[in-house]
Amino acid sequence: MKKLRTQVGIVGAGPAGLMLSHLLHLEGIESIVIEAQSRSHIEGRVRAGVLEQGTVDLMRSTGLGERMDRESLRHRGVYLSFDGNRHHLDFRELTGKCITVYAQHEVIKDLVRARLEADGQILFDAKHLSVANFESAPVIRYQQDGETYEVACDFIGGCDGFHGVCRPSIPEGVLNVFERTYPFAWLGILAEAAPSSEELVYTYTDRGFALFSMRSPSVTRLYLQCSPNEDIRNWSDDRIWKELLQRLTTKDGWAPNVGPVLQKGITDMRSFVVEPMQHGRLFLAGDAAHIVPPTGAKGMNLAIADVTVLSRAISNFYRNGSEDLLAAYSSTCLRRLWKVQRFSWWMTAMLHHWETQNEFDHRRQLAELDYVTSSRAAMTSLAENYVGLPLE
Ligand code: FAD
Ligand code: PHB
Repeated sequence: MKKLRTQVGIVGAGPAGLMLSHLLHLEGIESIVIEAQSRSHIEGRVRAGVLEQGTVDLMRSTGLGERMDRESLRHRGVYLSFDGNRHHLDFRELTGKCITVYAQHEVIKDLVRARLEADGQILFDAKHLSVANFESAPVIRYQQDGETYEVACDFIGGCDGFHGVCRPSIPEGVLNVFERTYPFAWLGILAEAAPSSEELVYTYTDRGFALFSMRSPSVTRLYLQCSPNEDIRNWSDDRIWKELLQRLTTKDGWAPNVGPVLQKGITDMRSFVVEPMQHGRLFLAGDAAHIVPPTGAKGMNLAIADVTVLSRAISNFYRNGSEDLLAAYSSTCLRRLWKVQRFSWWMTAMLHHWETQNEFDHRRQLAELDYVTSSRAAMTSLAENYVGLPLE
C-alpha cells in the first residue's frame, strides 16, 4: 500500500470539495482532493446554473472571477408567471443584490484549473474509496490504476455528494436524518435556442410547474414538472416542446424559442438534512449533508457556503490552535441551512401542482402568487432569500 500525507483529505471534486481545497490553499493549508470520476466527466456534468451574490463575491475575491465576469449573465431579478401573466420581481431594487447565471460545470472548470495551476493535487478516477479513524487519526483509502493508497490527514472534508461514502461511514445512531420527498420530479432540457427572456421565468399552471432558464445567449435551459417515475424514453423532443409551450406561453404572446434539444434528463426532488454535519474529524459539506429541491436554485450555493465556514474553522485551528470554530461548524451551517430548506420547500410548494390538490388549493396557490407579486414586503422576503441570506 502506498502512503500519502496531507493536512486535509477531501473526498469529492464537486463545488464543495474543490472550493474547500482552493480556500484552504489561500490560507496556506495543504489538501488532497480525491474524486471517483474523471476530469472530463466532472467538467461536463450539467447541473445547477444560478449563483447567489455571495458565491459570485467569493469567486471574485479568491481570484476565480475573470471568466465568470466575461461569460456569465447578470440578472436583476426573475419573473413569476401564473394565470397567463408574467410578473417581474426586481431583486436589485428590493435588496441591492443580483443573481448570476453561470453553469455549475463552468465553476468546476475554473476551480480545477486554479487548483492545478497552484500545483494542487486532485486525484481523479479513484475507486473503492473508504474513510476510517476519523475519531482519532483520519485516513482515506482508495485504489487507482490497480494500486492501493492510504492518505493520512488531520481532517477529512466529506464533500462526496448525496450518494457518497462519507455520510454512511458515520456510525449508526450519531446522525439524525430529516427528510421529505415530493410526488413529482423535473424533466430538464438544454436547447440550442436563443433565450427569449432576459431573466428566468418560474411558471405555475394547472398542468404543472415549468421553468425557463438559460446558459448563454444561444442556449436555453428548460424544466417541466413530471411524475417521479417518469421514463425519459416516453418524452420525445416534440412532446417536451409541446408541453413546455403549453405551460410557458403567456397571454401577451411570450414563449420560449424552440430549437434542437442538446441534452435531457430527469431530476428527483427531495429535502434532506443530517444533524450534526460532523463526527470527530470528519466534516460533511454540501450534498453529502443536505439536499434541497431545485426550485430555489440553492444546491450549489449551499455547498459553497458550507465550505466557506469550514475553511475558516480549519484555518483558525492551524493559526491559533483553537477548535472553537470547528466545534461550531455544524450549528453555524445548520442555522442558515434550515432557512434555505424552508425557502426551497416554500417555492416548491407554491409553484407545483400537487396530485392531492383540489380547487381550494389551486385558488389558494394563485392567491399566494398574487400576494408575492403585489406586496412589497412579500416580494422583498422572496428576493432576500433568492439572492442569498448572509453568512454568519
Ligand atoms: P457534488 O457536486 O455531487 O460533488 C460530489 C463529488 O463527489 C462528485 O464529483 C462525485 O463524483 C464525487 N464522489 C461521490 N462518491 C465518491 C466516492 N465514493 N469517492 C470519490 N468521489 C466520490 N441544483 C440546482 O440548484 N439546480 C439544478 O438544476 C440542479 N440540478 C441537479 C441535477 C443533478 C442530476 C444533481 C445530482 C444535482 C443537481 N443540483 C441542482 C444540485 C447541485 O448540483 C448540487 O447541490 C451540487 O452539485 C452540490 O455540490 P457538492 O460538491 O456538495 O456535491
Ligand atoms: C437552472 O438554470 O438550471 C436552474 C435555474 C433556477 C432553478 C433551478 C435550475 O431554480
